[in-house]
Amino acid sequence: MPKKIRIHLVAAARPNFMKIAPLYHALKQERWATPIIIHTGQHYDKSMSAAFFTDLRMPKPHINLGIGSGTHAQQTANVLIAYEKLCLDSRPDLTIVVGDVNSTLACALAATKLNIPVAHLEAGLRSFDRSMPEEINRILTDSIANILWTPSPDADKNLQKEGIAKNKIYRVGNIMIDSLIMSQKSRRKDSIEKKLKLKKQNYGVVTLHRPSNVDSKITLRQLITLLEQIAKKITLVFPVHPRTFKNLKKTHLLKQLHRTKNLIITEALPYKAFMHLISNARFALTDSGGIQEETSYLGIPCLTLRNNTERPITITAGTNKLTNIHNARKDIDKLLQKPMPKKKKIPLWDGQTAKRIVTSLRRML
Ligand code: UD1
Repeated sequence: MPKKIRIHLVAAARPNFMKIAPLYHALKQERWATPIIIHTGQHYDKSMSAAFFTDLRMPKPHINLGIGSGTHAQQTANVLIAYEKLCLDSRPDLTIVVGDVNSTLACALAATKLNIPVAHLEAGLRSFDRSMPEEINRILTDSIANILWTPSPDADKNLQKEGIAKNKIYRVGNIMIDSLIMSQKSRRKDSIEKKLKLKKQNYGVVTLHRPSNVDSKITLRQLITLLEQIAKKITLVFPVHPRTFKNLKKTHLLKQLHRTKNLIITEALPYKAFMHLISNARFALTDSGGIQEETSYLGIPCLTLRNNTERPITITAGTNKLTNIHNARKDIDKLLQKPMPKKKKIPLWDGQTAKRIVTSLRRML
């Protein structure tokens, strides 16, 4: 029997797990492939990591590098060192990195320098805002990857403009939608709304974790005032990210948030519970990248608290709108007056992305 191809699937942080899960399941079916899950340990809390493995029916990571938190340089450097060592001890035939977190760049760099081919899934996204750490990670990862798997035509164009050869770029679709569709049936059984006593389309979901929104006390305070105002009109559910939680505590704003009527605060939620909550919400108010895509697929209005997005297709073809602290209240008033949007289809956001990747890999390898 020919040798099986050893494929590292690198995952590090919460938004990565739903990107590797469909690919893991698809590769596992293939006789020629051995998928190996490498968790760098960038996210380590149960609610940010292990809960996602359970919900996405993945085994425990085969290898956990246990890196944890730190400054950008520390985190990136620690992953770089640990992943290089792993590759030297047990060399993979291909390293697949996803998304745009610090570990994405670090593993791509370590593998590339050892002449291990690197594939980047979710390549080509650009916010054109270099103050975002993720933008730096995206540009650098794309510039060294051998295979670039993109979700949409804008991503292909961005890569070509940066001089990346056309024959390295494969438009495969949006892998997150694979996970969303995969978990749909079991999600229906999830009773998070019952637990929180919520009525369908009678509440908004809030998530905030970008440094630009949660690292300064002034901005955090303004955001809390905004949430207080919105909560006078409609119930809000706010699952709090660890970075945001830490900063709320540090700035003594957590108490104020707890006192707000009509605002439900929870810990960061596991995947299925969170997607269930989103799919029955009236709207999402967020600074996340993935939620812009998930709401677009589900037909839930999304207001993104950012100046830009690396996912412009969610605005032109989905349900997303950019907003800011000053306009968000007006934007929410407007959307509450309109009926729910109709679901729109975005090409290749269809639950078949992992299959397309496996087919193209089979041909290539
Ligand atoms: C990271 C990614 C971001 C992604 C986000 C999703 C980078 C540069 N950023 O940001 O792109 O959208 O994940 O969540 O890679 N912490 C915990 N428990 C955990 C993880 C983190 O308490 O399981 C705390 C850490 O102490 C740290 C803070 O949260 O101080 C932020 O974590 P970090 O991984 O540095 O970045 P995120 O803000 O989560």
